[in-house]
Amino acid sequence: MTTRLFGFAGGDAGRWQVLSMNTLAGEPLATARAIDVLEGDTCQTQARRWVLRGITSNERYVTREEKENLVAKQQGLGRPQSTCAAMIPLRKSVDWWALTQDERRKIFEDQSRHIAIGMNYLPAIARRLHHCRDLGPDEPFDFITWFEFAEADMAAFDEMLKALRASPEWQYVDREMDIRLRLA
Ligand code: HEM
Repeated sequence: MTTRLFGFAGGDAGRWQVLSMNTLAGEPLATARAIDVLEGDTCQTQARRWVLRGITSNERYVTREEKENLVAKQQGLGRPQSTCAAMIPLRKSVDWWALTQDERRKIFEDQSRHIAIGMNYLPAIARRLHHCRDLGPDEPFDFITWFEFAEADMAAFDEMLKALRASPEWQYVDREMDIRLRLA
């Protein structure tokens, strides 16, 4: 099945074993021992502590040139060497959403270099961005970001996160969890 909608289910058992759950901003999520990524509009919430929903969408920020560079360098999820993952749900502030698209792009790329920084870590890091904000009024996060990489690339992943979190874009992040995972 090809789907754009995904559920991220935290519970006692699942495909991805939780190594750590850190709250960087805002309310924490309840502790889970494992996470499953569910495809489609699933109701498999039994025996789960929580399920976050997100949907892949059209791009908002990339220029044609950036897109071509990304496509040439990036690799997909599910590579055999990708035994580690990070799930980082994020919410941005009212101030962010009050900006216009051109103002957001200026902060996102001209000031923060989000794409330029991220490009340096391709193809080692594979990623999928899910939007939650327009799924309904009660979604706890605006985005669920999902990354997969080999154990050997964990330090590089942490270095990238440090650079992104120090950027002006992150001044607009008001809820953020960092969940690290390993294939169970
Ligand atoms: C592998 C490195 C990365 C690359 C290549 C990358 C690339 C991108 C690109 C191209 C976009 C824009 C998509 C669009 O045009 O709509 C984007 C958006 C985004 N990325 Fe990254 N990224 C990386 C790492 C990260 C990390 C580590 C995080 C979280 C900690 C993150 C969080 C986000 C979020 C939340 C958005 C949506 C921003 C918004 O719409 O306001 N990215 N990323």
